[in-house]
Amino acid sequence: MSTVGNVMISESANQRITDFADAMVLKHEVRRDGPLFAGVDLGTANIVTALVDTRGQPVAGALTRSQSSVRDGLVLDYVGAISILRKQVIRLQSAGFLIEAASAAYPPGTNGRNCQAFGNVLAAVGLKVVGLIDEPSAASLVLEISEGCVVDIGGGTTGISVIKHGEVVYTADEATGGVHLDLVLAGNYKVSVEEAERIKTDPKRHDEVFPLIRPVFQKMASIVRTHLQGYSVDTLYLVGGTSCFPGIADVMESETGLKVVLPVNPLLVTPLGIALSCVKKATNGE
Ligand SMILES: Nc1ncnc2c1ncn2[C@@H]1O[C@H](COP(=O)(O)OP(=O)(O)OP(=O)(O)O)[C@@H](O)[C@H]1O
Ligand SMILES: [Mg+2]
Repeated sequence: MSTVGNVMISESANQRITDFADAMVLKHEVRRDGPLFAGVDLGTANIVTALVDTRGQPVAGALTRSQSSVRDGLVLDYVGAISILRKQVIRLQSAGFLIEAASAAYPPGTNGRNCQAFGNVLAAVGLKVVGLIDEPSAASLVLEISEGCVVDIGGGTTGISVIKHGEVVYTADEATGGVHLDLVLAGNYKVSVEEAERIKTDPKRHDEVFPLIRPVFQKMASIVRTHLQGYSVDTLYLVGGTSCFPGIADVMESETGLKVVLPVNPLLVTPLGIALSCVKKATNGE
């Protein structure tokens, strides 16, 4: 378990995330009978689909780099997003996974028709859309929390959401994410953004890269601190792919003075949570 400070994430939460990571490698021995529920995360960097059974147990999944079909909380490239999702759904269905219902999520602060647009992508590939949920609420279902601040550091943005009594009471989305780290590294090494992304995610180059991108993490932490003024929050839950970079939790903790909790695989938390919300909605009408 990766935990900074004294706050822990429950074993069952981390186990579910680990099971989802394992299920992404489609396995033949997985049970394919019974209804399955999909959660689709249409992100700036990745489109991720999670499939769970009625108990919320992950059974399969798919992840595709999305090349900015979505940006700043808007679906910018419908055709691109639909094409990627269709391929994922066909792959899952061909492997014997039949999807009963699906839910989508929208970034914090998205309203009205812009939220609906996320569901429309799912409907366009023939999925039966039963729900739309905001991303931090989806993450909180996996983390099993009803209090705290979910900090979602993805490809394009950092989402900051305060949760009290299980409800999102404050939310903000700032344009600083993994892409900005890539830009810093691209400038430093004089390489393309794609090459910078490879350097950033190469564990062997972590020690070399960390001092170069630490200021960006400090900036993210200062954004979080500013947004939390006036809220009594004592724990930050880091999710989103950029939170996978080793060392980010320590920077967040030292810069904000708050306890920081890091789940076992931050990138998979929100998609899995969307699938859990789908089960709840489809089976209880919640
Ligand atoms: N091990 C890693 N170290 C550093 N960054 C990583 C690692 N793994 C993934 N990332 C980064 O995570 C980002 C993608 O995360 P995620 O899938 O949460 O984003 P997204 O949901 O598509 O974007 P957004 O939420 O901003 O719309 C990319 O910028 C990628 O470089
Ligand atoms: Mg995201």
